[in-house]
Amino acid sequence: MVLENILCMNTGNSDTKELPILTHSIKAIANNHDTVFGQCFRIADLGCSSSKNTLLVVHNIINIVHQMCEEKNLKAPQFQVSLNDLFGNDFNTLFKMLPDFYTVINNEKDESFGPCFVSAIPGSFYGRLFPDQSLHLVHSSYSIHWLSQIPEGIENNGSNIYITKTSPPNVLQAYRKQFHSDFTKFLQMRSEEIVPGGGMVLTCIGRSIVDPTSEDSCTLFELLAQSLVDMVKEGMVRESDISPIHLPIYHPCQEEVRNVIQNEGSFSLDNLVVFRLNWDPNDNDFINTNDVNNETSQRHGENASKILRAVTEPLLTCRLKKSIIDEVYKRYGKLLAKHLAQKKTRHFNLSISLTKK
Ligand SMILES: C[S@@+](CC[C@H](N)C(=O)[O-])C[C@H]1O[C@@H](n2cnc3c(N)ncnc32)[C@H](O)[C@@H]1O
Repeated sequence: MVLENILCMNTGNSDTKELPILTHSIKAIANNHDTVFGQCFRIADLGCSSSKNTLLVVHNIINIVHQMCEEKNLKAPQFQVSLNDLFGNDFNTLFKMLPDFYTVINNEKDESFGPCFVSAIPGSFYGRLFPDQSLHLVHSSYSIHWLSQIPEGIENNGSNIYITKTSPPNVLQAYRKQFHSDFTKFLQMRSEEIVPGGGMVLTCIGRSIVDPTSEDSCTLFELLAQSLVDMVKEGMVRESDISPIHLPIYHPCQEEVRNVIQNEGSFSLDNLVVFRLNWDPNDNDFINTNDVNNETSQRHGENASKILRAVTEPLLTCRLKKSIIDEVYKRYGKLLAKHLAQKKTRHFNLSISLTKK
């Protein structure tokens, strides 16, 4: 099974935490390209998925540019927006949202606005997607921590589905190597496509410390593996069905991101900000309840399980019967609730902005 054909997740966090860095990046592009404002501003969102978040990002970018033009008393540019995801992405759902999207932006802005032209570009962002020097701004959120393939030589990772404290050193190395090679490739491809002085804003899940077995990177997947192992023990799943499951993701630390950017050399790193988010996006506090039977703990577990289900289910259904998937995520929700009741581990996010040299 080709990984690209099954990686079609339908979730993601729209996150206002990225807005300041996006605004800063667009201002820098405008300073480099005075002529862009008044002509056509060409944007791409890579790994756009097909949720409401997709067009929200585009809306945010348009608003930032529009506000800047008003401040500078300039005519707003036309917008060419390219939405990219893998070939299996549900682009039809996105297209069906476009009439409402166009209506909203046209109602919000005056006659001097736009127009805005949205199109889809299917394909992997680890390859070329656009002609030479054709983009001013590339945005990508919660996508570049997805690897182009499962790292090679990690068969000895036991029943683990990602890196854990018990993973042999070669597994850590293989994941690290795959991320470094993929992220380098990503930067190389974009360096051909973005105009000099153009920018990129990338947000991904990372980890807070250099150790790749850090809790904020690994615990979520350790608990998912645990629910599978428990089901093997109870005879509901065969061991041979779960041991080949490896997640093609990698949560980099800040140092790795900086190193790859520096070594690749086409972009300067302008900003790197980090922020934490709860596993349950509806949970606003940072305190654990210490009581697993507490209704709130259970709800946090269930919500976190639903979010992770949207992301990981396509990878599990390649190996497991559809009929047992509900049970996997029900158990996962309970394990998450137990963990969160004792310790509120949170996602560690990295947002970076880059300028093409
Ligand atoms: C978790 S979703 C993020 C969606 C959206 N950007 C958001 O922030 O809500 C990750 C998306 O990245 C896409 N993706 C993963 N690898 C990709 C690749 N190599 N090329 C293009 N898209 C990819 C997936 O198909 C998925 O839609």
